Amino acid sequence: MRTFRPGKEADLETIITLEAEPDAARWLCEIGRTWHALALADPAQEHVVVLADDRVVGFGVLAGLAREDKAVEVRRIVVGPAHAGRGHGRALLRELVGRAYAVHGARRVWLDVKAGNDRAHGLYLDEGFVDEPDAGAAPFVEADGTVTPLIVMGHAPGLARFGAEFQEVVVDCAEPYRLAVFWARVLGGEPVGRDASWAYVDPPGRPRVAFQRVPEGKSGKNRLHLDVSVSDIPAATRAVELLGAVRLGGIVRDDQGAFQVLRDPEGNEFCLVGD
Ligand SMILES: CC(C)(COP(=O)(O)OP(=O)(O)OC[C@H]1O[C@@H](n2cnc3c(N)ncnc32)[C@H](O)[C@@H]1OP(=O)(O)O)[C@@H](O)C(=O)NCCC(=O)NCCS
Repeated sequence: MRTFRPGKEADLETIITLEAEPDAARWLCEIGRTWHALALADPAQEHVVVLADDRVVGFGVLAGLAREDKAVEVRRIVVGPAHAGRGHGRALLRELVGRAYAVHGARRVWLDVKAGNDRAHGLYLDEGFVDEPDAGAAPFVEADGTVTPLIVMGHAPGLARFGAEFQEVVVDCAEPYRLAVFWARVLGGEPVGRDASWAYVDPPGRPRVAFQRVPEGKSGKNRLHLDVSVSDIPAATRAVELLGAVRLGGIVRDDQGAFQVLRDPEGNEFCLVGD
């Protein structure tokens, strides 16, 4: 069974032995007891060990935990060559990245890897890290004086590594242009009718709201709605009613503030929110 726990002083001997294996050491930068003793004593770093059947078979080190920019580095990850290729490295990397975000509040998780370390580089790519060629890391000078370039990689959660960005909200409706006109009057921007089945508005500084014609009518309450913040809910409610919105109930007040539910001209719920 595989488990994880924070590394401690008593693990030092095993850690040093694991990383001193030639197949591990050649891919690391500085190694040894002093490096680890300092890291263990540093509140801005954290050792995590991976155990298989209660034996430490690998370890990782997170660093940068006190940085204001919350950029956490996976500074080291090693699985003893005798235990490699059994999924421990992948599981340990996931544990480290998960801890970086969930325990240490990372906004960015990054690491570097020596050029030529295809096993580790492949694992990182597979786990959602992307090369950052512009990072400009200084190369590592090996003990024999040769120089090894370092590849900096940043973790890109979700689809970010494919360039994913929130683009638009698409609303199903019967008359796209009519709704684009209504929403342009509510949010600002110009209504654009691409064709009879698609229209949109680009509210200034906000994602596009698009409307697509669908054959079916609306049934039940929306599972997604737009919140529009306003400075004066009653006055804004009267204004959108003049544009064709229909009020649903009265203003609701809770700990977070106040909101008025309305329906747009096709019956889609939205809220005017304020204090
Ligand atoms: C990199 C390392 C941590 C991976 O640990 P591991 O336990 O062997 O990795 P896993 O068994 O979880 O395998 C993860 C992936 O690595 C790749 N991999 C594993 N063994 C490999 C090998 N011998 N050759 C090439 N790729 C290999 C596979 O793509 C594998 O994916 P899969 O699960 O789809 O097969 C480990 O090999 C290691 O400690 N290497 C030496 C130190 C090092 O390079 N550290 C990283 C410094 S940046």
